[in-house]
Amino acid sequence: MPPIYLDYNATTPVDPAVADAITAALRDLWGNPSSGHEYGRAASDAVATARQQLADLLGAMPSEIVFTGGGSEASNLALKGVCTNPAGLHVITSAVEHPATAKPVEWLKMHGTTVTVVPVDGTGRIDPDAVRTALRASQAGVRLVSLMHSNNEVGTFQPVREVGGLKSEFEFLFHTDAAQSLGKVTLNVNELNVDLLTVAGHKLYAPKGVGALFVRDGVKLQPLIHGAGHEAGRRAGTENTPYIVGLGVAASLCADALPAETERLKSLRDRLHSRLRQTLGDKLVLNGHLLFRLPNTLNVSFRGQLGPELLERVPRIAASVGSACHETKPGQARRFKPSPVLAAMGCSEEVCRGAVRLSVGRGTTEAEVDEAAELLTSAVASVN
Ligand SMILES: Cc1ncc(COP(=O)(O)O)c(C=O)c1O
Repeated sequence: MPPIYLDYNATTPVDPAVADAITAALRDLWGNPSSGHEYGRAASDAVATARQQLADLLGAMPSEIVFTGGGSEASNLALKGVCTNPAGLHVITSAVEHPATAKPVEWLKMHGTTVTVVPVDGTGRIDPDAVRTALRASQAGVRLVSLMHSNNEVGTFQPVREVGGLKSEFEFLFHTDAAQSLGKVTLNVNELNVDLLTVAGHKLYAPKGVGALFVRDGVKLQPLIHGAGHEAGRRAGTENTPYIVGLGVAASLCADALPAETERLKSLRDRLHSRLRQTLGDKLVLNGHLLFRLPNTLNVSFRGQLGPELLERVPRIAASVGSACHETKPGQARRFKPSPVLAAMGCSEEVCRGAVRLSVGRGTTEAEVDEAAELLTSAVASVN
């Protein structure tokens, strides 16, 4: 029997309908989308359909979608693309961003960008007032706020809409990394008031290596990859037609399933949580916000346990501890490295050590959730 997959935040399986569309595109849509003949037009029409499908999921216009080679590229493009001179830029970001944002921000800082990292509270949320304060003090020519929509480890939603509301007080560009949220909850770029939004295909049942950046009409962006004028001059390189087609189909499947899918995920996640709590009581700690959280994400700490070791004792569950939190060096005992997200939330060492991220998805069933809860509670009991 294959393991129970509870790691949908790490990646999702490619939906069979997406795989079928990709296979057909690989076979039939091999023309260069830039070619003027029939083979080229067939490919460019398919890319245009995918652009529309993704735009529809986001409430955007097709011209506002730039296809990329994944979420990391999309966030790099957003952060490095808004300003030709890093020294003239001020980036305001949070302490719990994914490395796809945190690392380009570090790079910008090395090249002269002013960076303000806003702290999070114990649930992983920032205070929009801290962003307001940073914007008020900012002297930079270009100001960019980059705030993830939801956190990949604990699932906490950031107050993105509230920060978007600050646009009535200050002039700034607003980027959100929605890699984890898209497909799990309904999102609309206009309601959020964002200028730039990151999409990662493999978090919504499309393959790895394809993504997109929403770029609001009128926002000027320098390309990261220079070359011919693909993607309206914002990302050079002949389009990966099959994967773009796959991302479009994945987006339209998500659009069809929402908002009911949000409720289904939430009910599975809460069933898992309540089963674990029933047996473990206060030996179990929830990490992240109880309410403002991805519907599929349950990050819990098992007091007195080391998360990675607990998972090793239950090979029937395929889950993770959220981020690399445990390293083995040749000739050395295992070293524990706490998750930077939990550390930023001020979690105790015991909570950091015992954390496990369980994330449900499209294929998860109630029976799997029940079995996983039983396996985890027995594994905890076996060493207590
Ligand atoms: C929140 C978040 N942003 C960005 C990424 C990066 O996306 P990709 O793997 O497509 O580069 C991930 C993937 O782990 C993520 O969870």
